[in-house]
Amino acid sequence: MAPAEASDQQQQEQGQRRLRQKGETWTFSEWKPKARKPNRIRAIHAERIERAASDSQLFFHSLDAPPGLVSLTTEEKLPASKKAWQPKDSAKLYNVAGWGAPYFSVNRAGQICVKPCGDASESGVNLPELVQNLREQGVHTPVLLRFPDILCHRLQQQQACFDAAVSRYDYQGSYRGVFPVKCNHDKDLLSAVVSYGQKLGFGLEAGSKPELLMAMSLLAKHPGSNLICNGYKDAEYMELALRCRQLGINTMIVLEQFSELATLLAVSKQLGIRPVIGVRAKLHTRNNVGHWGSTSGDRAKFGLKARMVVAVVEALAENDMLDCFQLLHFHIGSQVTNIRIIKEAMREASFLYAELVTMGAAMKYIDVGGGLGIDYDGTSMDTVTSVSYTLQNYANDVVAGLQEVCMQRHIAAPIIISESGRSLGSHSAVMIFDVLSTPEEAGDESSHSLPTPGHTGGRSTKGAFLLSTFREVYEAISPSADKLREAYADAAFVK
Ligand SMILES: Cc1ncc(COP(=O)(O)O)c(C=O)c1O
Repeated sequence: MAPAEASDQQQQEQGQRRLRQKGETWTFSEWKPKARKPNRIRAIHAERIERAASDSQLFFHSLDAPPGLVSLTTEEKLPASKKAWQPKDSAKLYNVAGWGAPYFSVNRAGQICVKPCGDASESGVNLPELVQNLREQGVHTPVLLRFPDILCHRLQQQQACFDAAVSRYDYQGSYRGVFPVKCNHDKDLLSAVVSYGQKLGFGLEAGSKPELLMAMSLLAKHPGSNLICNGYKDAEYMELALRCRQLGINTMIVLEQFSELATLLAVSKQLGIRPVIGVRAKLHTRNNVGHWGSTSGDRAKFGLKARMVVAVVEALAENDMLDCFQLLHFHIGSQVTNIRIIKEAMREASFLYAELVTMGAAMKYIDVGGGLGIDYDGTSMDTVTSVSYTLQNYANDVVAGLQEVCMQRHIAAPIIISESGRSLGSHSAVMIFDVLSTPEEAGDESSHSLPTPGHTGGRSTKGAFLLSTFREVYEAISPSADKLREAYADAAFVK
């Protein structure tokens, strides 16, 4: 180990020891070496990376060695306590292809490679080499790497999936995405969205006054771009949003509370600028799985119930401004894990949209919010860390749901807007930090195997029971898909 690395490790160990002595719980983010601030690489475009020749084990050291989890592997599964651990074993264990393709992969040397344009033929960026190269330039971990090319690829993919759905269902409207600024305030990332998104007609969504200012400054150079204004709005917010229209930005102000309407009408009259108005609907459809379910269903904090949406129509008609009411928005929460929820929400919102058309509003847009999930663990399951559908499934169901109602009710197909955030941005940043500790070495070989039922192997009764139950589940696994699913459900339940 080079002297600089040795002193890093010493500093880290000292830091940990100090905190332990003080009786504090230590986590990585709480501790930083005193003399140094964490570095941050702002933006890395694939073509600009200078590739380092030297080989580094810094970050993915653990990919070359059997990790602690192996102690839960039975001898049958790993006849290879004798067999050398291979990089492909790590790729499989961490399911890199499941969550990372087409951007992240493990190469033959066991190092993580990034292909920012999602193209298998790209030579890619070797992360350990890159980290070594950065070290030589005096940039130390932790570092945050951003790959705007990945974000651009995601934008392109999303547009392509919606375009495919539009043509598949012969939908007469079109798709225009917006990126929610709240998902990432990084200037480089937002600039990449705006400049690359121009080709695709992507705009921005702002959820607060500061975000509106950011969006305004980024979109001012791109007249005609869509800007969705969500969030709490006072008179100042309304004024800023209306001024954006003067700059040529296609700004749509989405009412989240009925009281915002009076403020908007007053400011609009005062400035003499007519707004494009949208309403956030509170749908019955509930997203039950995940952390963000509370932003959906009848008891959701945000949005207007159907009768209040009708009250908006009436108030605008009284003010001779029904032509300003052009957009219906809903957001049923982030990371929707099951496509069924999307189908239900689309059906409910589409009927509401059709009612608004019938009532005389000049409807032109439907904004389906965010919620498009990410398969973080690569299992394609309906769980909080995964999703059981693809981007194309999502686009198909949004378009098909709307198309069905438009045909039934004989109304014109609206422009579809979506506010996907995590799905566009999540892959584009990589946090790299040193491995600070690993589980203690297991003692003898016998502790690597699961105990057989009835045999406690010196462990606590509860622990032994769990392990033996895992062994039963493991032994019942057979190649049939049903059995595998059943075994997975059993194991997840026992866990
Ligand atoms: C109104 C609104 N739109 C869009 C999003 C982005 O959602 P996601 O990251 O799930 O796409 C959010 C996130 O909470 C939101 O509140």
